Amino acid sequence: MARRIGNKVVIVGCGPGSLGYITLKALRRIQEADVLVGSRRLLSLFPEVQAEKLALGGKNYRPLLNKIASLSMRKRVVVLVSGDPGFFSYASLLINKLGKETCEIVPGISCIQLAFAAIGRSWNDACFVSLHGRKTALPRLVEALKTRDTVAVLNDNAVSPGLLCEFLRKEGIKGKKIYLCENLSLEKERVRELDFSSLEEIEAEGMNVMIFLSE
Ligand SMILES: C[S@@+](CC[C@H](N)C(=O)[O-])C[C@H]1O[C@@H](n2cnc3c(N)ncnc32)[C@H](O)[C@@H]1O
Repeated sequence: MARRIGNKVVIVGCGPGSLGYITLKALRRIQEADVLVGSRRLLSLFPEVQAEKLALGGKNYRPLLNKIASLSMRKRVVVLVSGDPGFFSYASLLINKLGKETCEIVPGISCIQLAFAAIGRSWNDACFVSLHGRKTALPRLVEALKTRDTVAVLNDNAVSPGLLCEFLRKEGIKGKKIYLCENLSLEKERVRELDFSSLEEIEAEGMNVMIFLSE
């Protein structure tokens, strides 16, 4: 296969949202960038970086893949993703498009790590389900809750915790301790221990991880 000319695209995991959780390696790569690509929230973490900034969001995820590929022929492009690039992230679209040889991946701290740290539990045997942008994962969640003792759910509020709880009850899920971990590492961080009856009343604010434990 012919060798590609150009720079590797650097995909940097930026952690759960606060600067304190960005690694030194990630910071170095970001400071070296000619072009920074990322959500407005992640770009706003680096106002001092002089790079050209391209906002990722809405419906431009796929069109930006081509732009990133062509820019990287001339420039050092750094793509910011939240948490860790290997966990439910834009990184997989990029790697599929460009090939793994063309990407450098800088790991980050995942929201999952913070959520389990906040509740003082191990995630050794946990199962993960993402409802972020995909309600189609609901049947997988039901299956996981029926068969696994520790299930962590990534939610973007497309499904409110109350509605989710109602749905799960109808599917015969019960007897779980539930932790709702919102806005981890951010100003409005909140971690609450709940059960199905208290969860029905609750609207989550912002990004959240829900952890279900068998009692
Ligand atoms: C597209 S996924 C990205 C996950 C990311 N790659 C990681 O490793 O944390 C986005 C989802 O992660 C969760 N999430 C990300 N940051 C969070 C935070 N600071 N607090 C709570 N949940 C968060 C939310 O469930 C959100 O809908």
